[in-house]
Amino acid sequence: MTLNPQTQAELKRAVGRKAAALVRDGMLVGLGTGSTATFFIEHLIERVREGLRITAVSSSLRSADQARQGGIKVLDMNEVTSIDLTVDGADEIDPQDHMIKGGGGALLREKIVASSSHQVIIIVDESKLVPVLGTFGLPIEILPFGYQATIHKLAKLGYEGSLRMANQQPFITDNGHYIFDIHSPKTFSNPSQDHNRMIALAGVIETGFFFDLPIQVLVGYYDGSVAFRRSQHG
Ligand code: A5P
Repeated sequence: MTLNPQTQAELKRAVGRKAAALVRDGMLVGLGTGSTATFFIEHLIERVREGLRITAVSSSLRSADQARQGGIKVLDMNEVTSIDLTVDGADEIDPQDHMIKGGGGALLREKIVASSSHQVIIIVDESKLVPVLGTFGLPIEILPFGYQATIHKLAKLGYEGSLRMANQQPFITDNGHYIFDIHSPKTFSNPSQDHNRMIALAGVIETGFFFDLPIQVLVGYYDGSVAFRRSQHG
């Protein structure tokens, strides 16, 4: 189902609001990146203005800016060793809770933040729930040094795509790297195998596959309801 942008934005806002309501006093909160995470941060700012006492770390400079401007105390990630709760969006989630992330180019920091968290709530509208990962494409973060050679090695393994651009220049991540968006293959039936093949290449910093994380998926359904998706794997 294709959602019109306004409906999709409403669902994203609704899950962002619900996730913000789950944050408790005293928590160290990991801030995700992307349009859904932006709604979460907006509602978290409202709660902080109403008296909620939290500190945060961020998966991107832009989310940190938004939070700080709203009055949230954002720590440097190097000041912490673990995070109570991280809330972030996703581009696709399959029934086994495997995800593709990185549409916003923040996948490396998002993975570091999520994997350092005791609890991760992924906030999505229903369109992000897919039977098999891949239609969205797979963003991977690569080193600018020798990037053409890295892309050539990926192609030899059967992964084709395009370098992400911004204003006619390669898009640069917060870490000073490039993003290569893989468009072929179109389905990943064994994402961990694909992840392992790609990450083994010199020059590939991280892939947009996320798995083995303590996630709960909070979904904004097409009928307007917001609820945790029941685990579909036991
Ligand atoms: C950022 O790099 C991404 O991982 C986002 O979390 C993901 O792209 C979801 O973005 P939206 O909330 O904008 O759909």
